[in-house]
Amino acid sequence: VSVKLENYTPYPFAIDNVSLDFSLEPEATRVRTRMQVRRLGPGEFVLDGVGLLLNSIKLNGDELSLEDYERDDETLRLRSVPDAFTFETEVVINPAANTALSGLYISGGRFCSQCEATGFRHITFWPDRPDVMSRFHVRMDADKARYPILLSNGTPGDSGDLPDGRHYAEWDDPHPKPSYLFALCAGDYDVWRDSFTTMNGDHVDLGVYVDKGQADRAQWAMESLKASMKWDEERFGRAYDLGVFNIVAVRDFNFGAMENKGLNIFNSAYVLANPESATDADFEAIESIVGHEYFHNWTGNRITCRDWFQLCLKEGLTVFRDQEFSSDLRSRPVQRIKDVMRLRGRQFAEDAGPLAHPVRPQSYGSIDNLYTATVYEKGAELIRALTVLIGDEAFNRGMQIYFDEFDGTASTIEDFYSCFEKASGRDLSQFRIWYAQAGTPEVTVDESWDEKKSTLTIKLTQKTPATPKQSEKKPVPIPLRAALLDGRGGHCTADGWENGETVIILDEAKKKVEVKLPEGAARPLLSINREFSAPVRIKRDLGTAQLLELASAETDPFNIWDNFQTLSKTEIFRLLDDPQSPPDAELVRAIADAVRHNESDPAFAALLTALPEIGELFQEREPVDPTGLNEARKRLRHALAETLMVDASRILSEPTPTPFAPNAEQAGIRALRTAMIGLTGALGTQDAARQLKSLFDQAANMTEKLACLRSLIPIESMERDEAIEAFYADWKDNPLVIDKWFAVQAGQGKAADAERLSQHPDFDLSNPNRVRSVAAAFAMTNLAEFHAPDGSGHKVIGDIIEEADKRNPALAARLLTSFEQWKKLEPVAKASAKATLERLRDGGLSKNAMDIVARALD
Ligand code: ARG
Ligand code: ZN
Repeated sequence: VSVKLENYTPYPFAIDNVSLDFSLEPEATRVRTRMQVRRLGPGEFVLDGVGLLLNSIKLNGDELSLEDYERDDETLRLRSVPDAFTFETEVVINPAANTALSGLYISGGRFCSQCEATGFRHITFWPDRPDVMSRFHVRMDADKARYPILLSNGTPGDSGDLPDGRHYAEWDDPHPKPSYLFALCAGDYDVWRDSFTTMNGDHVDLGVYVDKGQADRAQWAMESLKASMKWDEERFGRAYDLGVFNIVAVRDFNFGAMENKGLNIFNSAYVLANPESATDADFEAIESIVGHEYFHNWTGNRITCRDWFQLCLKEGLTVFRDQEFSSDLRSRPVQRIKDVMRLRGRQFAEDAGPLAHPVRPQSYGSIDNLYTATVYEKGAELIRALTVLIGDEAFNRGMQIYFDEFDGTASTIEDFYSCFEKASGRDLSQFRIWYAQAGTPEVTVDESWDEKKSTLTIKLTQKTPATPKQSEKKPVPIPLRAALLDGRGGHCTADGWENGETVIILDEAKKKVEVKLPEGAARPLLSINREFSAPVRIKRDLGTAQLLELASAETDPFNIWDNFQTLSKTEIFRLLDDPQSPPDAELVRAIADAVRHNESDPAFAALLTALPEIGELFQEREPVDPTGLNEARKRLRHALAETLMVDASRILSEPTPTPFAPNAEQAGIRALRTAMIGLTGALGTQDAARQLKSLFDQAANMTEKLACLRSLIPIESMERDEAIEAFYADWKDNPLVIDKWFAVQAGQGKAADAERLSQHPDFDLSNPNRVRSVAAAFAMTNLAEFHAPDGSGHKVIGDIIEEADKRNPALAARLLTSFEQWKKLEPVAKASAKATLERLRDGGLSKNAMDIVARALD
């Protein structure tokens, strides 16, 4: 059964106010709900409710009897109700038994909740859909010794002691919200407190709640929160709207974090950090996710989604906002490259496989499976492309119209785009095709130069490949930033190209652009899709020599990096086809020179050393041989390592920055150092192992220590085994660091290593971070081993998924997406992937997991 966008109907009742009363006990929590209901139109009164033990139902104070309502596994239905009434229920739930981590559950002995998308129906009966918005009043009581801190949305009200060692607290949220934004936490925490004064002069109390003894590790999250609040004021004029903002860290969490109104709940991996235990990537991720959840307060909470088909309305937009936040705080080009790496690695792959779906899907089987790279990452790219299409000024005006007109509503993509039509005076209906069409458009660029007429002719075509259930594709408007390069580090001038730059809008299947240059001008080089202005795949028929020429003429850092990516891709395929041939020395030299040339921007230089990942190479050719590709990639990397070894020794002999600060500047220096550590490992020799081990022993921060460990793992040696043991001994009491220990081994090892790790006493099927540290690290980053032709990788992951699914379907379903590229594999690995998927299907799976397997096999 699937839900369809076209079947949307408004809920026929309004529930202006609701009171929730929790009596918290891990195995039997009593929930009383009292709502004021008002009829808006004809229809039955239907509430969602799953796994609830029903004690009592009252309508206007009168207890209902069995014949007054109907109930099945998922709903409670009253055929006839008055036009205005009070409705009360009392149910009992068992948070301790909630291993799916959706609804109210226990993590580390504390209560916490996760309601998006449909967790609230596991707490009480309610129309659990985002377009029903209410003012929530919450009261809870609990054992005071075990649960001294009681939190919910909004601002605190009354609190006090009760008999039998219990106490209570009340919370009030004045902003109407849908149920998916409800949150409750109760337990014993340490708190890192601070405050913020908004641009309106309002005082906000801030708190980050963490495990006992870890308050100092909440400091960076707090700094990030204050930076986010300030940034949203300055960039979008958005201030916070309550007197309290709290973040709670929990160890068992299915995703990154959740934007519950005034009470964000976070996976502890994205809260806790200190210089000893966290990497630069951790600090960066915390900053970006704290920002993301905070930005949801306006794009998600105050303006929410009418239905889950509109998920990209809040997610794509909020990812765009967090990317801009990171770009403003750190390096814009480096941020752009990282965002595109992520997009290509995950979203392009999704778009090219059996799970492809539009940014706004027309139907879904399981809503949990819609929190995808396409909705988030491609959704963000579309907003970025919109800014290029209509310009920053119209975009900013459109955003203000959106905030003004739609505040307090549950909206749609159409509502959102109407604001930019107003702001830009343009019809954006063709742009919205992007939202309805799956697949990554391919843009072919062909140029020819007419010497006599000094004219460059650019021929562009676009084509979007067929995707499941969508064979016909329409052209979409593709805004391509372009420049004419003069080959001397500057631009050529031409009619209509201010500073030699323009935006070409490719909005038909084909387009021809003629650029007239001044008489006698030399042939310019074309730089296109600068800053990755549109989420497309560019195809240009350029040879290595031309690409190298282009790379040295480029003025856009993104494209400099991308030219080397293109060159490396081509080279890896050549090495795959010709296993005897040595890597192209000229290319290797050019990459090495570019790295050296950019040493003053070490974060960027580090990115230049990164060759395209196997997952990206999957998209270039079918059938794909991951083992062969991995070998070819390793040969190119080995050659690059040899060429850069003198530089590596020099860079690594310099001292690492002290005292440690998680800022972009220091992180950049460490990024180049870790890139050099990685290249040292690529040599693969015993000598390299010794060097890495000594760097490992001396490493003064987690970024470099972990890089050494990662690089050591593939080199069979005494040093490797010692490092693995020493790291474990040092960090065995810090689960987030031990997650990394699992992840580097699974990410660099063989199927047998993943298998061994999944049998380790610290492996824990009930903790999603730990499961992902083995299963996702192996299946999503170690593709050559995951897709090993003997099927060993598929088997390990299949087994973990099968076990995980019994307790946590959302986790299992997410891990299953690692099979999404199976149809592209060479025949032997392909048969093994298919057999694994079929075995899982036939063994019986949860609804979430079955939804993925069925689509993957279709
Ligand atoms: N809204 C949250 C965020 O993006 C993620 C919630 C994930 N929920 C889910 N069912 N997958 O920040
Ligand atoms: Zn989000």
